[in-house]
Formats: sequence, C-alpha cells, structure tokens
Amino acid sequence: MKAQSEREKVTVRELRRKSDAGETIVAVTAYDALTARLVDGVGFDIILVGDSLGMTVLGYENTVPVTIEDCLYHAAAVTRARPTALVVGDMPFLTYQVSPEQALVNAARFLQEGGTDAVKLEGGQFIAPAIRRLVQAGIPVLGHIGVLPQAVLAVGGYRVPGRTPEEADALVADALAVQDAGAFALVLECLPMALSARITEALDIPTIGIGAGPHCGGQIQVLHDVVGLFEAFVPRHTKRYAFLAEAMREALGEYRDEVRSGEFPTQEHSFK
Ligand code: KIV
Repeated sequence: MKAQSEREKVTVRELRRKSDAGETIVAVTAYDALTARLVDGVGFDIILVGDSLGMTVLGYENTVPVTIEDCLYHAAAVTRARPTALVVGDMPFLTYQVSPEQALVNAARFLQEGGTDAVKLEGGQFIAPAIRRLVQAGIPVLGHIGVLPQAVLAVGGYRVPGRTPEEADALVADALAVQDAGAFALVLECLPMALSARITEALDIPTIGIGAGPHCGGQIQVLHDVVGLFEAFVPRHTKRYAFLAEAMREALGEYRDEVRSGEFPTQEHSFK
C-alpha cells in the first residue's frame, strides 16, 4: 500500500481497471472532513457520503427525511479533505425519482457544490432513464439495488429481497438495466449470496456488496458500524472492528472525573 501522498486520485477508469484485473474494490462511508482524511489515510477506493448520514449523524430513524441540502453540506465537508478515493454523493429521497431532468439538475449540484466525483441512486429498471440521462451529461453514476433504504416505508421494513425465483429474476433485470444505462458499478444491498454471485457473473461492471456475500467485486460498509460508533443496533451485514463508542465513553468519563477532582488541568495545560 502506497503512502497517501504518493497515491493518485481514484477515477472510475481506475476502478474499471481494478475490477478487470480481479482486484477487490473496498469502500466505506464518511460524512465530514476529519473522518474523510482519516479514512483516506488508511486507503480506500471509494468514499460514499451516504444518506445513511440521516441515521449516523442527524438522528433520524431512517434515510427518508434526509434532504439534498443535508447531503451537499456533508459532501462538501468530505471533499474539502481532498481524498484520493473516489468520492460518491448519495442522492437522497425524491431528488431523482420525479424525472431524468430533475435527477440531472440535482446530480449536477453534487459535482458543483458538493465537489463529489460521482453520485449514487437507488433503484433498477424504474430509475434507469435517470441514470442514462446523468451519464450522457458526463456524471458518473453508482447504481444501488436490493434493499433500498429510501423505500423502507413502502416495503414496511428492511426485508431481504430476491428469495423467490420471480424476485431474483427481476433483480437480475434491474442490474442489467442499471449497467445498460451506463452506471460504472452497482451496490448490492442485502441480497442472498447466490443471487449476488449470479448478478456479479452477469455484469461487466463491478458489484459492490453490503450484506450481499463474498462473491461481489467489492464491499462497502457504513463507517459508524465498522468502528462501533452507531449503537442503536448492529446490522447483520456488519462486522465491528472496534467499539469506539465505549472508548469515547471511557475517555469522556475520565475527563469529567479529573475536572471534578481537580486533577485536570495541570500547569502543563495552562499558560503563564
Ligand atoms: O447511505 C449509505 O450509506 C449507503 C450504503 C449502505 C451503501 O447507501
């Protein structure tokens, strides 16, 4: 792994090269400059400014209330860190479903105001015309099928789709439609492993799984899940590599206790 200063900016072309060479793409979310810098220092291919920010940092129960202003604000913070990773801005609910023109106008805001390198849209065949319009205009698009968190109210929860032959066939058709519309990669969220493998096999573009098993071309996770900052629940698709919430509680408790006992601040932390 090259040092951050030696790494070149990841482009959609580089992702394609990696995928063709059989290299696994690794992606994670970030929502602010500090964590984007940290994440980029570790070395990821993609940073997604996910609309999961609604739950991880804004305190909503799902992603539906997230606005384009929320997403642009966080996207701009992330891109101010100048990551070498490809930065993808997640288009929130109802900013691209109305028409391909609406999608185009809003996607352009991600590139121009948020500074992102690409956008992500949820949906398959239904959303393919919007993806095509964006790609024609020069906007790289990351697709997203499977569990669609923006449709949680309509579905009535986060049910794993694709377990019947009919649903599986419809998801394969969705994946092909997203690819045909010009997406550079496709997120597969919470799909049965065998179906993800089938979709990955059927596509030329890389699939990036979250809860979609090991046979995808890459993996993506929500930062707050993998470092153990999000405590409301641990999604089945997440492996916690740290428990930072507990580490923060311990540090904050020590600070509080030392101030109360007079142990902090000392001369060392004071000025003459
Ligand atoms: O918003 C998000 O973080 C996402 C990922 C879960 C893929 O869409």
